[in-house]
Amino acid sequence: MFDKGKVLGGIAVFICLGTFPLWYIAYQGKAAYPPDPVIYPGSGQCVESAEYMRKYHMQMLEKWRDQAVRQDDRFYTATDNKTYDISLTGTCLKCHPNKAEFCDRCHNYNAVAPNCYSCHNIPPQPTEASGGTK
Ligand code: HEC
Ligand code: HEC
Ligand code: HEC
Repeated sequence: MFDKGKVLGGIAVFICLGTFPLWYIAYQGKAAYPPDPVIYPGSGQCVESAEYMRKYHMQMLEKWRDQAVRQDDRFYTATDNKTYDISLTGTCLKCHPNKAEFCDRCHNYNAVAPNCYSCHNIPPQPTEASGGTK
């Protein structure tokens, strides 16, 4: 027969090594803080799809700024032909009213800190307790 102790020991070592990435991340604390951006109920649909926004909102905002400031054109026509006012505060932050619970949660997680609000207005911040969902 085989040596039960050695087999069990081997399995234990294998499990530890195999799951190393998981508990390493847990130990670092990252897994304990998923970005978890809060989407407000009833805020309809984003300007573009969530996947698109996740990837490209930075480029979109840059284009919006150039279009508004340099070409004085303040309307954006989305892929579904809906038209939006080009405005960081008036459009994005209208549906995503809590910058801290939405934009900042992701940005802190990813260690990016766009400096827009030294100039742009942040509307009064509602909190998750006042109706936000995850
Ligand atoms: C130094 C001040 C300043 C900073 C910092 C700044 N902006 Fe602006 N931004 C302006 C001004 C001034 C306008 C023109 C406002 C107007 O004509 O309505 C503008 C216009 C815009 C517009 C189009 C109009 C609007 O009200 O939204 C967008 C979009 C925009 N900025 C995005 C950004 C983003 C994104 C950042 C951060 C990465 C940023 N801005 C940082 C000053 C600034
Ligand atoms: C009319 C309301 C509305 C407007 C305007 C709007 N959003 Fe959204 N946004 C949403 C909703 C609702 C979702 C969630 C969509 C989903 O999960 O399918 C979303 C999703 C997102 C996401 C992805 C979040 C995630 O969990 O991955 C980002 C990033 C985002 N929006 C940024 C922006 C920016 C930047 C603007 C302005 C250029 C903007 N949104 C304008 C309603 C809006
Ligand atoms: C789903 C996560 C997520 C959400 C929600 C989100 N962002 Fe971002 N944002 C990112 C990531 C990740 C980057 C860095 C991307 C890169 O460097 O390529 C970024 C970058 C940016 C940048 C460019 C910063 C730079 O230094 O280049 C701007 C501007 C920005 N986000 C604005 C916003 C605004 C405004 C909101 C809220 C309306 C928002 N983001 C919500 C994940 C998010």
